[in-house]
Amino acid sequence: MTISFADRVAIVTGAGGGLGRAYALELARRGAKVVVNDLGGARDGTGTSDAAAIVVEEIEKEGGEAMANGGSVTEYAQMEEMVAKAKEKWGGVHILINNAGVLRDKSFAKMEPKDFSFVVDVHLNGSGNATKAVWETMREQNYGRILMTASSTGLYGNFGQANYGAAKLGLAGLTKTLYLEGAKYNIKVNTLAPVAGTRMTEDIFPPEAFKAFTPENVAPAALYLVSEDAPTNMIIGAGAGAYHAAYVTMTPGVALPENERTVEGVAAVFDKITDRTGEIVPQSGSEQSMAIMKALQGE
Ligand code: NAI
Repeated sequence: MTISFADRVAIVTGAGGGLGRAYALELARRGAKVVVNDLGGARDGTGTSDAAAIVVEEIEKEGGEAMANGGSVTEYAQMEEMVAKAKEKWGGVHILINNAGVLRDKSFAKMEPKDFSFVVDVHLNGSGNATKAVWETMREQNYGRILMTASSTGLYGNFGQANYGAAKLGLAGLTKTLYLEGAKYNIKVNTLAPVAGTRMTEDIFPPEAFKAFTPENVAPAALYLVSEDAPTNMIIGAGAGAYHAAYVTMTPGVALPENERTVEGVAAVFDKITDRTGEIVPQSGSEQSMAIMKALQGE
């Protein structure tokens, strides 16, 4: 069965190139009306260009419907204005893909505080801004699909990307609370950790890998995660045609008797605390608390 996006209105941030462009084109091919947001800056976030308008032209050439938006995700007022324009033209917003991003890589020792906060601001606060701008609309519609873009750096770490990694894992955290708050309103929220040959990775990937890791190989996962039957609260990795899931797990751990709750007591059972046999995937913070209570009761 074909998965259609007919009559859906989608916003893709940072869609003037790379992954966002691939998502926007595929959404439009499948019938969505697409807001192509991008301020069109360089990889480090400086400058502007008409990157969004060029992608809109491409979509229109293929017979699709799209609107360019040059707003910055770091400016909440610009995100509100973007949502208002989409609603005015197309009557609602059903899908938001938070994809805009920048890089300012340096080892933490050499990283300026301003480059730490700028990268966190674009990825984390930027996704918060765009999401906040559509949230009420999605609640009122009783329909919303939101995708956050994390990264292997956020989930697993990468030398030289402390700012980026902090923001990216933050987005997985944002997903985990928003999926709970959105559930009642049919709002599903997921996280994607893509790997793709784009200008973000062009000087990192060897040429062969750059060719194999196309944005078009990531788009199927992104689109499935914002489709009608999307799951919620998933972290999905996608690259070069391979797809997998990542989980935040909790080990059964150890409940120590009162007289052993000491630094030495923890040291003595540290292997048991970290033993992954029987680990679970809590679906909320309160599930963690319940698991702790059960462990204390010796269940
Ligand atoms: P890209 O650099 O081609 O795309 C990012 C886009 O975001 C650019 O077009 C840029 O102009 C736009 N942008 C930057 N700041 C913005 C702002 N303030 N407001 C609006 N738009 C803004 O890079 P790529 O690879 O397509 O990245 C897309 C997303 O995927 C990013 O969030 C990135 O961190 C993430 N990602 C990419 C990976 C890869 O292997 N390419 C790996 C993991 C994550």
